Amino acid sequence: MSSGESSARTPHHLVARVETLRTQLAYHNERYHTLDDPEISDADYDDLVRELRSLEAEYPELATDTSPTQQVGAATSATFDPVVHRVPMMSLDNAMNRDELVAWAERVVKGLDGQVPTFVCELKFDGLAMSIRYENGQFVQAATRGDGMVGEDVTANVATIADIPHRLSKPSGNDVPAVVEVRGEVYMGTSAFERLNERTVAAGDKPFANPRNSAAGSLRQKDPNKTAERELSFWAYQLGDVDGGPVFSSHADTLAWVGELGFPANEHVQRFPSIDEVAAHCLHWRDYRHMLDYEIDGIVIKVDDPVQQHLLGSTSRAPRWAIAYKFPPEERTTALLDISVSVGRTGRATPFAVLDPVFVGGSTVGMATLHNREQVAVKDVRPGDMVIVRKAGDVIPEVVGPAPLNKRPRGSVAWEFPVNCPSCGVALILPDGEADTRCFNTACPAKQVAKIAYFATRGGMDIEGLGEQMVEKLIDADLIADAADLYSLTVEQLVALDRIGVTSATNLVDSIRESKARPLQKFMRSLGIRHFGPAASQALAAEFRTLDAIMGQTTEELAAVDGVGGVIASTISEWFAAPENRAFVERFRDAGLNFGDPKEAARAAEAKALTPQSLTGKTVVVTGAVPGYTREQAAEAITLRGGKSPGSVSKKTLALVVGDHAGASKLAKAEALGVPLVAVTDFEELLATGEVPRVELLETDVDEPT
Ligand code: IVH
Repeated sequence: MSSGESSARTPHHLVARVETLRTQLAYHNERYHTLDDPEISDADYDDLVRELRSLEAEYPELATDTSPTQQVGAATSATFDPVVHRVPMMSLDNAMNRDELVAWAERVVKGLDGQVPTFVCELKFDGLAMSIRYENGQFVQAATRGDGMVGEDVTANVATIADIPHRLSKPSGNDVPAVVEVRGEVYMGTSAFERLNERTVAAGDKPFANPRNSAAGSLRQKDPNKTAERELSFWAYQLGDVDGGPVFSSHADTLAWVGELGFPANEHVQRFPSIDEVAAHCLHWRDYRHMLDYEIDGIVIKVDDPVQQHLLGSTSRAPRWAIAYKFPPEERTTALLDISVSVGRTGRATPFAVLDPVFVGGSTVGMATLHNREQVAVKDVRPGDMVIVRKAGDVIPEVVGPAPLNKRPRGSVAWEFPVNCPSCGVALILPDGEADTRCFNTACPAKQVAKIAYFATRGGMDIEGLGEQMVEKLIDADLIADAADLYSLTVEQLVALDRIGVTSATNLVDSIRESKARPLQKFMRSLGIRHFGPAASQALAAEFRTLDAIMGQTTEELAAVDGVGGVIASTISEWFAAPENRAFVERFRDAGLNFGDPKEAARAAEAKALTPQSLTGKTVVVTGAVPGYTREQAAEAITLRGGKSPGSVSKKTLALVVGDHAGASKLAKAEALGVPLVAVTDFEELLATGEVPRVELLETDVDEPT
């Protein structure tokens, strides 16, 4: 029945709404699947589908077989030849939260007459579904999903993807089957995507919006040589048509077998006996998805036993034995109300978008960065536009670019970067060859506020209660002009200010006093010297131990320290050479700040001379508690032996030492980068030999972030 014949009980405006939704979805399907140029974010698209689906569920008389809710993907284009899938390529139903996941599991258990199945979880890769056909072990065809029944022949393009074997390897225990279709996702890794966009922008073209779109665009090239340049990858997740293959007793076994055929096996496949554990696994990946070098937009949960899968069966578009748990959207469309510029401590003038607040990436976002002058021009966003906003993980929210241009108000003009500093009014300058426009006025109030707030941040002097607003208040009241003035503030002065009570005034003064004892490296980085970040200040403090020793070094001596480059060394030398900066530093000494202990420096030099340098040039990261060592002592034991012990894991890390209550993010990162884990009991062996001890880490006690 068509919606026009809907029964009298259906409210008229809902019939119209359903029509509108279907028209919109057909349009957006075409933009996404056929043109690879979506106008709205996936989340906004999903919202439309969900609205339509719930209307069709509530008013079954409105449902039709041709509704977009009943279809998989989109029709094929004329560019590539059609391929009829011998086994249809299905879609997946979505669970948007824990309740929907649990409800699905309940339906599954009911469908299995009360049996609770084993669930197998895979990552939900954000790319394009592909079916790759082998005959007698030879790659013969690759086809997109299309509408699920008929896809497009992209064989020549897919043949350029390095992950996809041209000949299958012989799996252990059986022969290569006569026919096998391996299905999975073609994707572009995050770093490949960044490289591609660097090249695209350098060639003067518009950057791609995200890895998925660029993977799609790459597959649609008429010239396979173009595809070959795009660094595409592939993860397998399912079999299609198979003739002569083994019988599997679990989906996990199927994946392992596909690995034996020569496909890269994704390591994050895990089985769970209960939906509670599945839900915990989903939440884990929601928080750690950005540890991977490819994008995922959820977790796919499948019933592991093929017999149970068969019992549960499928609807017209999706299996009942699988579901996609979708992460909250990281991109949304909203209105760009205005563009403003903020001036930071180094004078950098950063344009930012004032947005109609929108819920994205787990929080409501009202402002998003536009990075710099050129980015506003490249993205061509204007106040009044609808824009796509992205907030991924801990990264600050950013404006990706305009949503549909056709919504741009008539007569809107390109935004112009302000000529003068919005804080002090002095002309802004874009130095030759640099990306950032700056205010060079040393007395600019915005810079001063940002500098003092930076001095007080958690990673620096950690003065609680001293954010930008409080700093502004103190400057306005003429109580401080720079960070050194903080140390003469009194409770009486503070309570005289508007809306500061005795308690908060006392807390602030206490916190300022406590900050005097912060380690030298914290104090140095808080001075806000350009380029002089936490890593370099840590390296210099470890090497020279006192600020006087550091100030006494030549540029060359500073540059010789591992982790301090020539640029940092000369900025530091120049900074300390300026008399006004020397005077500034002396005011901190007078206030009693920790400049490092010379006796300690002598002791450290002696200890180093007596210890074998087993870890020279090596980096070891410690997470959690190591019995017998404080956090600092564990790091010192490493540096004493010539090694480095930074706070985060990278590709260069030799090993991650895992103590009690280890940080989950460090573990996940080590896992993602293939950095070996070392148990605390083997820490001393690692110190002595400088090699990773060859033992398996059996159990870890991981603290999830709360
Ligand atoms: S299984 C019959 N597993 O998600 C089941 N799909 O929203 C077919 N996808 O069309 C799909 N990662 O393109 C499956 N580990 C995974 C996946 C995955 C990504 C994609 C796939 C599918 C879409 C459904």
